[in-house]
Amino acid sequence: MTKVLVATDKPFAKVAVDGIKRIIEEAGFELVLLEKYTEKKQLLDAVKDANAIIIRSDIIDAEVLDAAKELKIVVRAGAGYDNVDLAAATAHNVCVMNTPGQNSNAVAELVLGMLVYLNRNLFNGTSGAELMGKKLGILAYGNVGRNVARIAKGFGMDVYAYDQFVSAANIEKEGVKPVASRDALFETCDIVSLHIPKTPETVKSINAELLAKMPKGGCLINTARQEVIDEESICKFMAERTDFKYATDIKPANDAEMAKFEGRYFATPKKMGAQTAEANINAGLAAANQIVDFIKNGNEKFRVNK
Ligand code: 3PG
Repeated sequence: MTKVLVATDKPFAKVAVDGIKRIIEEAGFELVLLEKYTEKKQLLDAVKDANAIIIRSDIIDAEVLDAAKELKIVVRAGAGYDNVDLAAATAHNVCVMNTPGQNSNAVAELVLGMLVYLNRNLFNGTSGAELMGKKLGILAYGNVGRNVARIAKGFGMDVYAYDQFVSAANIEKEGVKPVASRDALFETCDIVSLHIPKTPETVKSINAELLAKMPKGGCLINTARQEVIDEESICKFMAERTDFKYATDIKPANDAEMAKFEGRYFATPKKMGAQTAEANINAGLAAANQIVDFIKNGNEKFRVNK
């Protein structure tokens, strides 16, 4: 019988797991759950006889793929798939998919929540700032960026975006102001929200030099990936620019050092962007349906290791 493993260090809401189970069992497959595992060995054991795996930010590297002798497909229930070694998957003849757009509203709502919290000085009782009328820059205008724009407009924000892969005309037709370059976005906007994937080009690309282009009182929100930030450089920058604020959904390695910027820095304890029941249901069920459709009909629509 086809075995589908759900391997999630950070588990889905129970309602999503129940939905995944229903889809997998109705297809005549078996569901195996590995949640909150603490050691890689547990994952290596669990993948041995799995034909399909659903993951979140869980690392699927060459060692895991070597251990997964029966594996045909890995679906990353979410958008970013930098946690999967695509070349190794291709070499093992394993199809890798993501579930684009399924958790994007959850991440976008968190962006606005973090923005309010940061601009009200972490609710410390002192006088903060409002979002209405502020210039918000969205770096990468994909599914999350679009949802951030939609919600930010409701706050009365002036919304700008830059995406090297989306034309200015396509940004403009959604009522968002396109800018010509990444640097121009930082020069123009009071607040920048990051939605870039982790790639060789983006790693450590957000640094002091770029942030120095922002107006006084600037603030940066990161719900993308830890690795896109040059952490050491931002720490030095914030020590000099006492007006600058930074909030991140991915705890930096230098979190303890950053904590000295009291009232203008915070990191969520664990990545929270996609942690809603709705996002878990959307992404989890999409992943289960994609697996069934791949195994039964060979549908590779969301394949990312082409
Ligand atoms: C994504 O890439 O979909 C988000 O970063 C969510 O990741 P998570 O499923 O690990 O919370």
